[in-house]
Amino acid sequence: MLKKKILFVCLGNICRSPAAEEVMRSFVEKEGLSSLFYIDSAGLTSFHRGEMPDRRMRDHASIRGYSLTHLSRPLIIEDFYNFDMILGMDKQNMKSLYKMAPETSVENKIYRLTDFCVKYKADDIPDPYYGGPEGFDYVMDLLEDTCNGLINYLKNDLLS
Ligand code: 4NP
Repeated sequence: MLKKKILFVCLGNICRSPAAEEVMRSFVEKEGLSSLFYIDSAGLTSFHRGEMPDRRMRDHASIRGYSLTHLSRPLIIEDFYNFDMILGMDKQNMKSLYKMAPETSVENKIYRLTDFCVKYKADDIPDPYYGGPEGFDYVMDLLEDTCNGLINYLKNDLLS
């Protein structure tokens, strides 16, 4: 079976999207579905290219058992062709993703991660970079909730 290729995108690719990538990878592993997925993340800017995730994000992820090792990379046009789903974190990310999409035929691959919320009601996964520790904790809450929703959606999709 062809792997489902999923790309999480945020602004810097050092906080939200590398954490989303690892939460999703961990959920997929727990379900025994690793062979069916390819999961990656990217940033809308290249400011942090090659960097490890932000120390604060790594610490908050680690408390919950996730080890973040992704190195920041910018989103490239080929990603719109290579991935099946491209998931942005907030309104600004969504605007940028639609702006960057090379043609309208790939726009149906763009999703907002909060569309998959289960317990929480949120439109955005807010940028935690300039805030305090509670922002990173809230990001982890939302990522666990949305990745849970996303994997259930994809399980139905894969079985149909
Ligand atoms: P991210 O957070 O988009 O979740 O990786 C940010 C990281 C860095 C910056 C902004 C947001 N920055 O301005 O450098």
